[in-house]
Amino acid sequence: MLDLAISIVYCALLYSISARATGCPLRCECSEAAHTVKCVSKDLRSVPSGIPGYTRNLFITGNQISRIGPESFKGLDNITTLSLSNNRITEVESQTFSGLRSLRTLDLSSNQLSVIHPEAFTVPGYTLRELNLSRVLYNHSAVTDLASSLRWSTLGQLRTLDLSGNRLIYLPLNTFSYLGSVRRLVLANNSLVAIHNGTFSGLSSLEQLDLTLNALRTIQEEGLAELDTLPPGTRLLLGENPWTCMCGMEPFAAWLNASRGRVEDAEVLACAFPPDMRNTPLLRVAAAGPAGAGGHGAVLGCPRVGEGADLALQTSYVFLGIVLGFVGLVFLFVLYLNRRGIKQRINGMREACTEVWEGYHYRYELDSDPRLSQVSTTADI
Ligand SMILES: *[C@@H]1O[C@H](CO)[C@@H](O)[C@H](O)[C@H]1NC(C)=O
Ligand SMILES: *[C@@H]1O[C@H](CO)[C@@H](O)[C@H](O)[C@H]1NC(C)=O
Ligand SMILES: *[C@@H]1O[C@H](CO)[C@@H](O)[C@H](O)[C@H]1NC(C)=O
Ligand SMILES: *[C@@H]1O[C@H](CO)[C@@H](O)[C@H](O)[C@H]1NC(C)=O
Ligand SMILES: *[C@@H]1O[C@H](CO)[C@@H](O)[C@H](O)[C@H]1NC(C)=O
Ligand SMILES: *[C@@H]1O[C@H](CO)[C@@H](O)[C@H](O)[C@H]1NC(C)=O
Repeated sequence: MLDLAISIVYCALLYSISARATGCPLRCECSEAAHTVKCVSKDLRSVPSGIPGYTRNLFITGNQISRIGPESFKGLDNITTLSLSNNRITEVESQTFSGLRSLRTLDLSSNQLSVIHPEAFTVPGYTLRELNLSRVLYNHSAVTDLASSLRWSTLGQLRTLDLSGNRLIYLPLNTFSYLGSVRRLVLANNSLVAIHNGTFSGLSSLEQLDLTLNALRTIQEEGLAELDTLPPGTRLLLGENPWTCMCGMEPFAAWLNASRGRVEDAEVLACAFPPDMRNTPLLRVAAAGPAGAGGHGAVLGCPRVGEGADLALQTSYVFLGIVLGFVGLVFLFVLYLNRRGIKQRINGMREACTEVWEGYHYRYELDSDPRLSQVSTTADI
């Protein structure tokens, strides 16, 4: 019995020593030659301890980790690539990665962040080059946290930022203000409906902006002006948006025609609405020009500028006519209702007139009778 206990303790000791020697945490695979540690789909609840110091590439993916903080990565200053994708991380604390002084690539994709500390992504020495935050937000409410962490963390050397699949409806102003080195910004698979003045300000090194699979129906002139402020040569991806080919989208269509060189997928952009325009290439809408004057393009069915004015004038005339007609009707109706009173009044007036007339007539007759006048004159004498 004692022998068994001793041998168990001995085995345990031996195991722990050998584990320390090979330096690999339980349920992980370590390769010293490749400087890589993988703990993939192992039901881990937290970042395991005992990750060897030589580790440069650390993959702790597909587990159940829900919280990470600065203590999770103590002494791992050789890590350059860290992937924590597909976990259940809900919160990233301040300075979580600030011990990782060589970190270049951080992948947090497919988590459920609802709390992101402003300095969550701070890495000393501005080493971070790639940040994958695809499908990372629990819901859209976390976007303000996200925006402030992108402003407050030291991301001045970041080259690639993936924010796809986050159900983003809008981007807070100045979200990208301090990302002057970002070359590739992925905003695909969100729900963005508009681009505003300032949305992309600060992205002075941008080379590719991916806006595919959003909720853009058109881009207003404000958004077009904003896209025009991007560094020249920035390639845009705008596919799979519900482009709505109705009046008001002409500026966008014309911009698209003029920006073919920049919009990589310009040729495949097509109307999604209205139904009779479905799948019509946007460039054909553009070719129709501002009121479909070109003839060979698809027509938006908008009134021309002059036509519009005419139409407005006609409309106002018709309206005036209707109003006048109505007033007339009311007048007639009032007359009809008062017909008795009016008849009486007319009769009264007629009588008054007759009296006046007769009186006048009588006097006239008197005046015009020479004898009578003579009588009066003689009488005066
Ligand atoms: C990091 O790597 C260097 C060189 O490969 C090594 O000397 C150092 O001990 C490593 N750091 C840790 C914490 O193991
Ligand atoms: C970010 O992660 C997602 C899913 O893990 C992947 O599909 C995507 O390619 C990554 N983004 C970048 C820029 O590598
Ligand atoms: C997002 O989730 C939080 C926490 O569950 C909740 O309080 C908030 O209302 C949600 N926001 C939206 C827009 O659903
Ligand atoms: C878009 O993102 C949602 C999550 O927000 C995800 O379920 C879906 O698979 C993504 N679609 C594509 C085409 O990547
Ligand atoms: C955008 O905003 C800036 C100030 O924030 C202003 O100077 C500029 O005129 C605006 N541009 C447009 C197109 O509204
Ligand atoms: C489209 O752009 C071409 C030059 O790229 C230009 O010649 C043409 O007039 C434009 N068409 C319209 C309708 O704006």
